[in-house]
Amino acid sequence: MKNNKLWGGRFQEKASEILDLFNASLPFDKKLYKQDILGSKIHSQMLSHCGILTQEESKQICQGLDQIQAEIEKGEFTFDISDEDIHMAVEKRLIEIIGEVGKKLHTARSRNDQVALDFRLFVLDSNRQIRVLLLELIQTLLNIADSHTTTILPGMTHLQHAQPVNFGFLMCAYACMFVRDFERLSDSFKRNNYCPLGSAALAGTPYKTDRFYTAKALGFTAPTLNATDSVSDRDFALDFLYDLSLIAMHISRMAEELVLWSSYEFRFITLSDSYSTGSSIMPQKKNPDVPELLRGKSGRVYGNLFSLLTIMKGLPLAYNKDTQEDKEGVFDSFETLEISLKILNDLLKTMQINPKEMKEACQKGHLTATDLADFLVQSCNIPFREAHHITGKAVTYAESLNKDLSQLSAQELCSVDSRIPPKAHNALDLEASMNSRDSYGGTSTKATQTQIQSLLAWLQIAKSGECNER
Ligand code: ARG
Repeated sequence: MKNNKLWGGRFQEKASEILDLFNASLPFDKKLYKQDILGSKIHSQMLSHCGILTQEESKQICQGLDQIQAEIEKGEFTFDISDEDIHMAVEKRLIEIIGEVGKKLHTARSRNDQVALDFRLFVLDSNRQIRVLLLELIQTLLNIADSHTTTILPGMTHLQHAQPVNFGFLMCAYACMFVRDFERLSDSFKRNNYCPLGSAALAGTPYKTDRFYTAKALGFTAPTLNATDSVSDRDFALDFLYDLSLIAMHISRMAEELVLWSSYEFRFITLSDSYSTGSSIMPQKKNPDVPELLRGKSGRVYGNLFSLLTIMKGLPLAYNKDTQEDKEGVFDSFETLEISLKILNDLLKTMQINPKEMKEACQKGHLTATDLADFLVQSCNIPFREAHHITGKAVTYAESLNKDLSQLSAQELCSVDSRIPPKAHNALDLEASMNSRDSYGGTSTKATQTQIQSLLAWLQIAKSGECNER
């Protein structure tokens, strides 16, 4: 029995059913139908522009492709696994609809450059969508930051109380991470915005095509330079997976903080009921499942990066079927980040911020110890190492009274060491401490407002066009 595949000319026997199951990418690459149809339309227009097809033929092909897109979108298209992939499913249907002319579409291209194009278009579109979500998240962080530049809480190192900071300052820290993520995606976009279509199987084509026409019509900067590299290059997907991994890592850090801050030990924030879950056994519980899941999702996102790195490792030049394994991980990472960014944004918008609890926490951990040492250096001309030592004694004394350093009276403080003058007591004030860190990038209310202004200015520029490269 003859093989009925589009490529079946040299085959005597039919493909086995299990081969279809193993070989086909259609169940997942049907997601690329829009990119596939767009690429084919532009390809046929290029062929007619170069006199390889007539205008009428290209028009018929484009109309047929539009019909196929409509059928898919209305759910009327039959995806048949024996068609193997989206490229052949669309081409087969095109021939059914427009007949012989449909058989001309595949002139001067191959599925190798076709899939490289479709997948690249998908990755670049997704790159843009993630950047839009990042901008929304950054806006939310800055809104919160702007209302909390005087909301004081313990800044930590090693998760131990360190120095007083304001909550807006911490929100700006996260905004800075997401700004870098945005810029990393913009860089990847620019690096990868080149069109592989027209590379054909691996070596280019004898037809007098115009790859620059195709590249321009599809919104690319230019065609890719080398046909063999173009059909096997998946760096664009790896760049994207890496960019998404870093976003996932940043989200997981913030999520961890949200879990801690919402616990009874901290109570710095209260997560809204609509983003919390209950326990099936403990009726009193309100669990932070949402930030925990946000934290956990990083695992699969890193996994997808490592999976593709491993698939690509050791592949000889040009197309190998191994690369068919490139898509599902990218789809998964994209969808994971898409929902994670949306839900993190909502979680932040709806959470309650508890300044009273934050302030109370500042009464523990001797947060102003560095300020006392700095005061002794600046006002009493005591060398820092010595000032550090005197302050250490004051901390021990406060602890012996079961007090925080900031709770010592001026008299108690002076009793620690004869070199401590009474006005050193002012250095123990939490607000004064926070506002004294007024260096560029510091935590004072003023320095935090400067950061918010810079980030808002960046946001303005990013919103006004960075995402419109194609
Ligand atoms: N389904 C294939 C993939 O996703 C398309 C390219 C197939 N090319 C080939 N020569 N078998 O990679």
